[in-house]
Amino acid sequence: MKIYKAKDYNDMSRKAAGIISAQIILKPDCVLGLATGSSPIGTYQNLVKWHQQGDLDFSQVTTINLDEYKGLPRDNDQSYYYFMNEHLFSKVNINKDRTFLPDGTEPDSAAACQKYNEIIHATGGADLQLLGLGHNGHIGFNEPSDAFEKETHCVTLSERTIQANTRFFTSEKDVPRQAYTMGIQTIMSARKILVVVSGEDKAAAVKAVCFGPVTPQVPGSILQFHQDAILVADEAALSQCS
Ligand code: F6R
Repeated sequence: MKIYKAKDYNDMSRKAAGIISAQIILKPDCVLGLATGSSPIGTYQNLVKWHQQGDLDFSQVTTINLDEYKGLPRDNDQSYYYFMNEHLFSKVNINKDRTFLPDGTEPDSAAACQKYNEIIHATGGADLQLLGLGHNGHIGFNEPSDAFEKETHCVTLSERTIQANTRFFTSEKDVPRQAYTMGIQTIMSARKILVVVSGEDKAAAVKAVCFGPVTPQVPGSILQFHQDAILVADEAALSQCS
């Protein structure tokens, strides 16, 4: 895994947006795998700015998102579709018919997962997959477990993840307990992977992911086996890696 040190969150976001922007320029009809959460917001802001300046064209881009809460419809302001629309899709010239997330309203988990796998396969998979990193080393909603899950599956969120996500909801009890997420095999099939991490609270996770043993107990550690994985992290997130 290549590690790029950024000064702070803004610098991390600019560098990450530069890498995504290069991908779109080199292959205008690329497939981008996208993430939600606090980490990529600044990256999306830069992409939106460069689009508005006329430097970035999303008209041929397809997107597949990592995950979606089970039970939340698209118009719920905590759904990941809503997040993507708010931070990127509504602000660039992307064709919304080519923006894909798991269907959170599908109560039948097997059907939701199968449908999303079919969509991912039909796109040909991600040219570039953007990832954030959870405090416990999760990627997507692949939580620490005894085995790496391959394709889209329904997960029960860990207590730590529920607590981390409570900040976006009115109270902890409103945080959905389950989500649909891309599996590790799908993430690893991306031609390029870009992880963005910021803040001292992620320093232990970054160290474990980059330098610890590869184990499903630290799901992001599998990225050590990817041939083109890039981690852009700020100084605080890299503070345990010297
Ligand atoms: C989001 C996702 C999660 C987040 C991770 C970090 O689509 O799949 O894995 O990337 O929980 O979240 P933030 O960036 O909010 O710290």
